[in-house]
Amino acid sequence: MLFRGWGESVDGPWPDAATVVDHVGVPHLVVTRHALVRRLLTDPVTFRPDNALDAVTPIPVAALRVLAGHRFRLPPTLANNAAASHPEIRGIVADALHPDRVAAQQPWLTGLVRERVTRLAADLAAGEPVDLYADLAADLPLLVLARLVELPDAPVGAVKDFARAALELFWAPLDGSRQLALAAEVGRFHTVLRAFAAAGGGLAARLRAAGHSPDVVVGALFFLLVAGQETTSQFLTLLLHRLAGEPAVRAGLRAGEVAVADVVEEGLRLEPPIVTWRRVAAVDTTLGEVAVPAGTSIVAWLARAGRDPAVVAAPGEFRPGQRGSRRHLAFGAGPHRCVGAQLARMEAAVVVAEAAPLLDGVTVVRPPWCPDNLTFRMPDAFVVRRT
Ligand code: HEM
Repeated sequence: MLFRGWGESVDGPWPDAATVVDHVGVPHLVVTRHALVRRLLTDPVTFRPDNALDAVTPIPVAALRVLAGHRFRLPPTLANNAAASHPEIRGIVADALHPDRVAAQQPWLTGLVRERVTRLAADLAAGEPVDLYADLAADLPLLVLARLVELPDAPVGAVKDFARAALELFWAPLDGSRQLALAAEVGRFHTVLRAFAAAGGGLAARLRAAGHSPDVVVGALFFLLVAGQETTSQFLTLLLHRLAGEPAVRAGLRAGEVAVADVVEEGLRLEPPIVTWRRVAAVDTTLGEVAVPAGTSIVAWLARAGRDPAVVAAPGEFRPGQRGSRRHLAFGAGPHRCVGAQLARMEAAVVVAEAAPLLDGVTVVRPPWCPDNLTFRMPDAFVVRRT
């Protein structure tokens, strides 16, 4: 359950509000109810974010040595930073992702997606299978992010490989040999980032100008390169897959009766790319009926909270605009709430508006496959062909 939380059936029995689950001898308290998840995320004094990026399978000494060989260091900067430096670092990132700057990217992104959709429609018409992950969704968020924060000129493929390796190294159940391979991949890219952090423009330059150390600049870029693009490309893939099975929603979009923004919100509620997020109890406390000793790792099951019948009218059904649809916690809540939410929403709206018509009259040849992971869905190929 801990690593396939996204796969739990909505029709199955509602799990207890808070359940203890063990992984490699470490207990995690899994919290499901919307109200409890919200409380957890919005009270950073009782429930600190320090463990948000900890490896859920502890990294063995051999892999730590590989990371150390690349001078890998990841000081808390954003998601796991409870220190006084957090608001300032967050503010600099938020400026780079200001809603006006995000809106300014929309015409460019629309043009790019339209071009791709035209090509994919021609391939489908010719009877070819198309992969809506690889050929449409995978690199779009990275291309937009690069424009917004002036990222290093690393090849897209290298960034995607690094980001997926990081998500696996920190959030998957792993054995020692896989951890070694992932540490080598993540460490190599960390070296690239260090060079960029020292000399790059845009966000890196603004963090340096605010007096942050090279390690902090690398830490912020590291997190952004994962959180700021991989999450959204996963979401775009999951949402398109979901829409392939929702012909009535697509018909509503075609007829102008269903709003694109409502489809995106219902998608975030039912197909969040980040299924869980962690906090650690700072003091002895309680959650619901459960006593929580200080130091307990707590897993907020965001995906379940979005389907809490206390909040949503028809929890398991994709009904854009239904009561409670927008109350999902896919972007977290409180002082660490996702700073890229506006950007992710804009990207998803463009893709839904432009690409949903591709799904009319197609058969799913291969649904996206998602590996075991505590937090990230990480779908791979999503292949369709004309029926
Ligand atoms: C659908 C796409 C996305 C989802 C579902 C998502 C979800 C999340 C979640 C659950 C958190 C943790 C919130 C908490 O602790 O309460 C988070 C934090 C964060 N996200 Fe996102 N995110 C997405 C896209 C993005 C994008 C596009 C960016 C930036 C380009 C971004 C940047 C961040 C940052 C910087 C944080 C840390 C904020 C802080 O600690 O102050 N995310 N996101």
